[in-house]
Amino acid sequence: MIQVSGLAKTFSSKKGNVTAVAGVDFEVGAGEIVGFLGPNGAGKTTTMRMLTTLLKPSGGSAIIAGHDLLRASGDVRRKIGYVSQTGGAKPAAIIRNDIALQGRLHGMSKSEAQARTAAVLAEFEIEDLAERTSATLSGGQRRRVDMALGLIHRPPVLFLDEPTANLDPQSRALVWSHIRRLREEHGTTVFLSTHYLDEADHLCDRVLIIDQGRVVAEDSPERLKAAIAHDTIQIDVADAVDQAMDTLARADGVHSVTVDGYSLSLACDHADQTLSVLLRQLDLAQVRVESVRVLKPSLDDVFMAITQRDRTETAEHANA
Ligand SMILES: Nc1ncnc2c1ncn2[C@@H]1O[C@H](COP(=O)(O)OP(=O)(O)OP(=O)(O)O)[C@@H](O)[C@H]1O
Ligand SMILES: [Mg+2]
Repeated sequence: MIQVSGLAKTFSSKKGNVTAVAGVDFEVGAGEIVGFLGPNGAGKTTTMRMLTTLLKPSGGSAIIAGHDLLRASGDVRRKIGYVSQTGGAKPAAIIRNDIALQGRLHGMSKSEAQARTAAVLAEFEIEDLAERTSATLSGGQRRRVDMALGLIHRPPVLFLDEPTANLDPQSRALVWSHIRRLREEHGTTVFLSTHYLDEADHLCDRVLIIDQGRVVAEDSPERLKAAIAHDTIQIDVADAVDQAMDTLARADGVHSVTVDGYSLSLACDHADQTLSVLLRQLDLAQVRVESVRVLKPSLDDVFMAITQRDRTETAEHANA
């Protein structure tokens, strides 16, 4: 549904050039929900602005919903919805009118636009705000209005730039369930950026990690976690720390052991399978175990690992 190849953007000014996006390639299938992660300034918004026809790429191309981004930008615009990082609601406009006008701009008749407006107001639970202006809303309320504006024409492809930034947990959950429902009921394809890694973990089929304008990793959240970060097992022993350390360091599937007092921390694969074997070996070595904890890697660990690694590699290149 989205095919991007070599897409790049360099901003030029008198002070010099900034390469915001250094040539990215990726695909998003029909009905997929794909997360776009990366640190501040990585190039997420710039990529989204190019894909939504708001910014002219310096290089590369993209096909969106069957239309060429550069040659048929009008067709692309009709197929997409975009909720920008800063939102699209006009501060002084009455919300109901603003959303209906958006519908009219998408070619709806007056009554159709009114009906759709009522529907999206209800979907985002903002009917009671409809006669107010966006300037008077809280950040989280405004974010829901932004979503309603982006969805008025029920686009098959949706670009969301940090849709849940600054939302309280309840509003985030509302936006998540809405995104899932769009996919289930309408097969909507969603490409969304986020800094909340748990969001990507819960919501996305796949994540792309972008750093310094390049895609540095791409996979399902589960596989990324498995590939990058190990499980951790923490074992507290009552005595015989050295004995325990020897036993565990020799065990299969254990990558490293660190000791802090009577507490041992093991990096290993498949902790759930390894654990019972380790406990049996400790028992044979006559080590008394007081407590055991298994920690699974979070997407944060993966994200930190990948973006740190990317920086180190870049620094090495610069030094070479
Ligand atoms: N109009 C512009 N002129 C010059 N540089 C720009 C412009 N827009 C963005 N940049 C630069 O391009 C880089 C990428 O910015 P972008 O907004 O795409 O990052 P982002 O990944 O969305 O970050 P954030 O998480 O903070 O929203 C940054 O270094 C930014 O300063
Ligand atoms: Mg951004």
